[in-house]
Amino acid sequence: MRLPMSPRTRALVLIVCALLWLSGALWLVAHYAYPEHNEFGVLPNRFEAPLMRLHGMIAVAGVFLFGWIGAGHIRARWSAALNRASGLWLLGCAVVLVVSGYALYYTTGAFHDSAALVHQGLGLVAIFAALMHWRRIRAGA
Ligand code: HEM
Ligand code: HEM
Repeated sequence: MRLPMSPRTRALVLIVCALLWLSGALWLVAHYAYPEHNEFGVLPNRFEAPLMRLHGMIAVAGVFLFGWIGAGHIRARWSAALNRASGLWLLGCAVVLVVSGYALYYTTGAFHDSAALVHQGLGLVAIFAALMHWRRIRAGA
């Protein structure tokens, strides 16, 4: 059975995903390309903290939304080959990003550093899975 996604839900999913990606990507630019300095050495860029507060807030909404649409969306479309591969890539990225994102809060040391690398790298490239999955969206469909 094909349960269409309402335009409002679709817009919400796309906006939350876009904000998650943008806040993460801008943090990476601020962190790696524009560190600040004072007489004691290198400091984090002043925009890193607000960007992470925004990212962390949207991440909570994102996890809620993934759970909400995830079960119905995937079950309803599983038998159609259309978008299955890109959908599974997107789902895989989301699962690893959620797990590594929470590891950033609750771990320290080498484990935290590995989670950060995985989260940063996968977060950046996840946009390709998303673009593949959403390339057929028709306005108003
Ligand atoms: C399901 C999606 C995602 C979830 C649940 C998630 C969650 C999180 C959480 C909880 C943090 C820690 C926030 C803090 O320290 O205050 C974080 C950090 C971060 N996230 Fe995400 N995130 C997601 C997607 C993304 C995406 C798409 C990107 C794109 C680049 C991204 C980039 C980053 C970066 C750069 C950091 C900072 C890493 C560090 O401190 O080393 N995230 N994320
Ligand atoms: C995190 C995981 C996923 C998210 C956030 C997501 C989100 C979306 C969104 C927003 C659309 C556009 C809907 C529209 O145009 O009305 C879409 C389309 C679609 N998705 Fe997913 N998706 C995910 C995973 C999957 C998986 C795993 C499958 C299949 C096994 C799948 C199958 C499809 C199909 C067939 C479409 C085409 C249009 C339609 O039937 O609505 N998706 N997805």
